[in-house]
Amino acid sequence: MPAVEIKPDMYWVGVNDRTTDLFEGLWPISREGVSYNSFVIKDEKTAIIDLAKAMKTDDFFGQIADITSLRDIDYCVINHVEPDHTGVLRILKEMAPDMTIVCTEKAAGLLEAYYGVHDHMQIVGDGDTLSLGTRTLQFFSTPFVHWPETMMTFEPSEGVLFSCDGFGGYGALQGTIFDDECQDQDFYERESLRYFVNIVAKFRVSVRKAIQKLADVDVRMIAPSHGLIWRSRPERIIELYQKWCDYPDTPGDLAVTLIYGSMYGNTESFMNAAAQGIAAEGLDVEIFDAARTHSSYMLPYLWTRRGVVVGAPTYEGALFPPVWEVIREARIKGVKNRQLAMFGSYGWTGGALRDLVKIVEPVKWNLVDSLEIKGGALPASIAQAAAFGRKFAQTLKQDA
Ligand SMILES: Cc1cc2nc3c(=O)[nH]c(=O)nc-3n(C[C@H](O)[C@H](O)[C@H](O)COP(=O)(O)O)c2cc1C
Ligand SMILES: [Fe+2]
Ligand SMILES: [Fe+2]
Repeated sequence: MPAVEIKPDMYWVGVNDRTTDLFEGLWPISREGVSYNSFVIKDEKTAIIDLAKAMKTDDFFGQIADITSLRDIDYCVINHVEPDHTGVLRILKEMAPDMTIVCTEKAAGLLEAYYGVHDHMQIVGDGDTLSLGTRTLQFFSTPFVHWPETMMTFEPSEGVLFSCDGFGGYGALQGTIFDDECQDQDFYERESLRYFVNIVAKFRVSVRKAIQKLADVDVRMIAPSHGLIWRSRPERIIELYQKWCDYPDTPGDLAVTLIYGSMYGNTESFMNAAAQGIAAEGLDVEIFDAARTHSSYMLPYLWTRRGVVVGAPTYEGALFPPVWEVIREARIKGVKNRQLAMFGSYGWTGGALRDLVKIVEPVKWNLVDSLEIKGGALPASIAQAAAFGRKFAQTLKQDA
């Protein structure tokens, strides 16, 4: 993808990654892709802001070379040291030996630790500026979005905020890098939420602090390092991130996430009946088979929806493992204050419910109801499961 001018003498360059299957070696992006956005500003001095993962390096350096000779890069601003933005740093340093790396003190420590890089460094702190000639870059320390060293870089004359992972999202770029030219913004908003919950949600308090810090800054364009550049409505992605940060402090949207697993189909039969009960009360229920769905896709629903219904058989005295995994992941991410109901089939003494309660107790999920059924999906039990679903939905609606 060729370089794109985002403002006079300011360019998007980057890698549009459609071949990595797992972001951070963990989160599926095979279908969605991701971009590593990097930016070049040409002035009396030339700066590059954030880099890319070490892949498709010929393309990446080719894009930059179309704008400036690599030797002429004076500054490399590193907002964040994670290798999806620094993987090519050592190669770039070879090609631009006079280049100065501009980063926070913590970032300098990490660059030494990851790459053995320690010379030609300029340490910046919150509020510091760097003149490029006619333009000035301003730095905002935004720690733990989502690593300790993270900062954002602002160019005041055009109002461009280079926010790195903040306001970023999954989704390879599809022919345009700008929100106003994108025909399917819903895709990017959905993928930004998934990215938010997977990558930064655990640090939502720090993200909120960063947003507060930017409240009085005249931001006219948000240029994150993943996903769309928000040119026409930068406030949109800020509002979304703000809303997503706040979810654990709210009761959540009036809808249900139903996560189930089943070995022999009994819990699955109860699941269908319970879902019918919920839907009959007019609530939206999103159903996931935990054994067949990556937590990446379930977590955004758990993050935003008030009701959680867990369907799981007992497995070796405990919660069915794939269900256990996603609930535990939700707890780690900080999903809080959810209304919970649990059903499932067991063979002799059960244990799934007891296990579930133990997992969610510290994050204040409120167990509204449970239905552990010994044995199979006989007609009476199926009727019980339907009534159970209906009653849970009614409780959610009453509390709304
Ligand atoms: C490997 C395995 C381990 C199990 N462990 C327990 C157990 O510890 N306690 C229990 O009450 N039932 C246990 N069961 C029985 C299941 O909970 C029971 O068969 C249940 O009906 C399965 O529901 P499903 O049809 O939705 O898979 C186990 C079953 C299997 C296959
Ligand atoms: Fe990161
Ligand atoms: Fe990143």
